[in-house]
Amino acid sequence: MADKTATLTVGDSSYEFPVLEGSVGPEVFDIRKLYGAAHMFTYDPGFTSTASCESALTYIDGEEGVLLHRGYPIGQLAEHSSFMEVSYLLLNGELPNQSELDGFARTISRHTMLHEQLATFYRGFRRDAHPMAIMCGVVGALSAFYHDSTDIADPEHRRISSHRLIAKMPTIAAAAYKYSVGQPMMYPDNSLSYTGNFLRMTFGVPAEPYEVNPVVEKAMDRIFILHADHEQNASTSTVRLAGSSGANPFACIAAGIACLWGPAHGGANEAALNMLREIGTPDKIPHYIERAKDKNDPFRLMGFGHRVYKNYDPRATVMQKTVREVFESLKVSDPLFETALRLEEIALSDPYFIEKKLFPNVDFYSGIILSAIGFPTTMFTALFALARTVGWVAHWNEMISDPGQKIGRPRQLYTGPVERDYVEMGKR
Ligand code: ACO
Repeated sequence: MADKTATLTVGDSSYEFPVLEGSVGPEVFDIRKLYGAAHMFTYDPGFTSTASCESALTYIDGEEGVLLHRGYPIGQLAEHSSFMEVSYLLLNGELPNQSELDGFARTISRHTMLHEQLATFYRGFRRDAHPMAIMCGVVGALSAFYHDSTDIADPEHRRISSHRLIAKMPTIAAAAYKYSVGQPMMYPDNSLSYTGNFLRMTFGVPAEPYEVNPVVEKAMDRIFILHADHEQNASTSTVRLAGSSGANPFACIAAGIACLWGPAHGGANEAALNMLREIGTPDKIPHYIERAKDKNDPFRLMGFGHRVYKNYDPRATVMQKTVREVFESLKVSDPLFETALRLEEIALSDPYFIEKKLFPNVDFYSGIILSAIGFPTTMFTALFALARTVGWVAHWNEMISDPGQKIGRPRQLYTGPVERDYVEMGKR
């Protein structure tokens, strides 16, 4: 029994349960033995008060607006490191030295190509298919092309499939884009950085050389860092739940992509930019603020609010700064950025948003910058999926390596009919 315990009293009966302590953050009331002891379940739809697992990857303090990967603050990682470095950190637990980083980047670059038959697979999709629909399909199909790395009990298979997923995701996302615009898919160029290669595969054409703009490359890499992992969010929990049954990693990541697609999660970056376009000019903001506050109107300020952050999302701070830097370096501007800044200012001084602690999240500004780089809105969530793949893979590995891992199997509060006899067709 842990040093500290919590007592649950139901009627005349009392039950004692251990209280577990993490390295930082709230203590956790361990109710694993509750059903056996009290024949009761806990009820927590949406997991608002439930820790589903133990993890050493990422820590969030939503009250203070803190996000740490393996202990390192996201602001420092975004400022000083690269997406490859953060990927290594998430997967291995420590920052790499130079030769470890070079070795990791080299390994990833060796897996960037797709099985040639996958090109045929793409042709089965309609030209106007959403890139996320293609991503779900193609990533799920990877297990049909790479079944030599799907034995999840073998650490070497796990390592190779993890590298394959991280390496191939930019190629898959860029190919989804190329397919939608009718241009030839570009083979990877492994002499470029992870991010530079992705930009070339997306915006380059075989007919001309493509020069990677270092400002755009840096900004894109930072956007990938900001999306790399975020604790037990909906898509990561989906990956873990799918993986808990022993499903192969390609299938699990496809499940994560499907979950990420929704507008309450990764789809919010697309929805946020569409919303800013609909609002248009700052004079229309009050009307939309009123709509967001109206209980009878389904409209919400997209890119605002978060299940965990009850303070400014630290990723939104970096994202806003990055928009300014890119605009200055590329000497471009977008009136929607002014609209977004004004919207933020008005919302943050409105009692509704103050009381409910609704702040901009990572998606509020990301659309503006992705649009300035040249991505259509439909690609935004695909970029999020690309970057989050490293987080999904790291969580999946952490879970599979845990000797105490069990299949995820929640229970329910049943409210349907109690047992009754079958009624013959003629008597209904
Ligand atoms: N605009 C207006 N009101 C909002 C918003 C919003 N964006 N977000 C929450 N609220 C209100 C709700 O209406 C609710 O009000 P009530 O208490 O009077 O009923 C209250 O704030 C709490 O909201 P919930 O939906 O219960 O909070 P939850 O934690 O379940 O949802 C979520 C969080 C889904 C992110 C929500 O804030 C939202 O829909 N935001 C817009 C979509 C978005 O930006 N998603 C991206 C999240 S970040 C990410 O995935 C990378």
